[in-house]
Amino acid sequence: MHKDNQPLVFELSKEGRTGYSLTELDVPEVDLSEILPSSLIREEAAELPELSELDIMRHYTALSNRNHGVDSGFYPLGSCTMKYNPKINEAVARFSGFANIHPLQDESTVQGAMELMYDLQEHLVEITGMDEVTLQPAAGAHGEWTALMMIRAFHEANGDVQRTKVLVPDSAHGTNPASAAVAGFDTVTVKTAENGLVDLEDLKTKVGDDTAALMLTNPNTLGLFEEDILEIADIIHSVGGKVYYDGANLNAVMSKARPGDMGFDCVHLNLHKTFTGPHGGGGPGSGPVGVKADLIPFLPTPVLVKTDEGFAFDYNRPQTIGRVKPYYGNFGINVRAYTYIRTMGPDGLKAVTEQAVVNANYMMRRLEPYFELPYKQHCKHEFVLSASRQKKLGVRTLDIAKRLLDFGYHPPTTYFPLNVEEALMIEPTETESKETLDEFCDAMIQIAKETEENPEIVQEAPHTTVINRLDETRAARNPVLRYQKA
Ligand SMILES: Cc1ncc(COP(=O)(O)O)c(C=O)c1O
Repeated sequence: MHKDNQPLVFELSKEGRTGYSLTELDVPEVDLSEILPSSLIREEAAELPELSELDIMRHYTALSNRNHGVDSGFYPLGSCTMKYNPKINEAVARFSGFANIHPLQDESTVQGAMELMYDLQEHLVEITGMDEVTLQPAAGAHGEWTALMMIRAFHEANGDVQRTKVLVPDSAHGTNPASAAVAGFDTVTVKTAENGLVDLEDLKTKVGDDTAALMLTNPNTLGLFEEDILEIADIIHSVGGKVYYDGANLNAVMSKARPGDMGFDCVHLNLHKTFTGPHGGGGPGSGPVGVKADLIPFLPTPVLVKTDEGFAFDYNRPQTIGRVKPYYGNFGINVRAYTYIRTMGPDGLKAVTEQAVVNANYMMRRLEPYFELPYKQHCKHEFVLSASRQKKLGVRTLDIAKRLLDFGYHPPTTYFPLNVEEALMIEPTETESKETLDEFCDAMIQIAKETEENPEIVQEAPHTTVINRLDETRAARNPVLRYQKA
């Protein structure tokens, strides 16, 4: 029996118990050795848990009840845009014409799905101010890498093989330098100035003939809009480099400002964040990439095109970087994003941005008296506090994050961006009510007071969860990823 306040018992197997009942075989039994090589035939049955259907149902229900998701509580995980995922998206993704098609079907039989993808690309072209979009990449980081491979192919096509450096601000998400490295570039770090924005003087000293690109998130991961963006783009373009937009923070500017109008040459979007694809459990994402005209020849193939006869996949692109994903992206997430864009409309998307920014600023000003706020100007959709004051009293950011679990919240992003000591990055999103924002701020303020009066309660948190603090190193080094019979 599962009790909410006790650790789950994982070994429930009882010999001989089954969770299925199969009808009598009414076709001739096949001799496996006639159809499979002997190396693929089991000699002994797999050791699987033996359970009744009810045992399994209760086990997974108990597990799901202990999971924290946007549908169960506030989830202010900065830079991750954990907003509500409208359920109409799910209904549309389950339409049999979308859910039951196969990527290997003949194009003539899936014209509706291709039209949806084409229309989604067109909407993203409009939202980003780019000239063309591919839906192939499966996530943000994959989009980064795809765009960098195109930039590389572009420079090589111009004989600019000496462009080996990609500039990345020190506030950037870790995937930026990682994608640059995987795409074969050396990364050069650009400093953040005292105002939290790119240090222009530092940038100027780092650009040159070897610059392939600058990767920039705008607003940056401090939640601050790079107001010198036009000058930054000019600096990079003047030496022949490309400017890449990390679109993970598009929720802050969508329908208000477009990367294409800020001087960016290419962009990735996280449809699973801004455009309400469910995420957080490692499920499929979608990281479309948009490009300006001079990068179009390098788009991954196939390219989805509209012809007089309908929609088709074009493979005849001599300068393409090739395919980056089997088939054509994660279709189900793209259906959800399309549904979101169509149900919101341009004015709805603008309202999203405005509310996301108001919510973040409201929380930031309520919490400012209790925590260090390293950058004091108004923020966009998220803001970063520092627990440096609490650290002097023996309470670290990790302790605050753990204490928030006692109040039923998913903690904010911690220790990121790296250029803020004891960082707590909070992104409320637009879908939360004022009551929720206030209750969360009340919890944070209580934790700040506890730190002064009774720090042990924070240092020893969480107190209400089944497990206190996990041995994260052991979990990462020795993960148990499949059932092993006790
Ligand atoms: C600023 C930023 N860039 C890029 C990414 C990478 O996106 P994904 O997790 O979809 O690969 C993230 C993800 O958290 C992010 O916050």
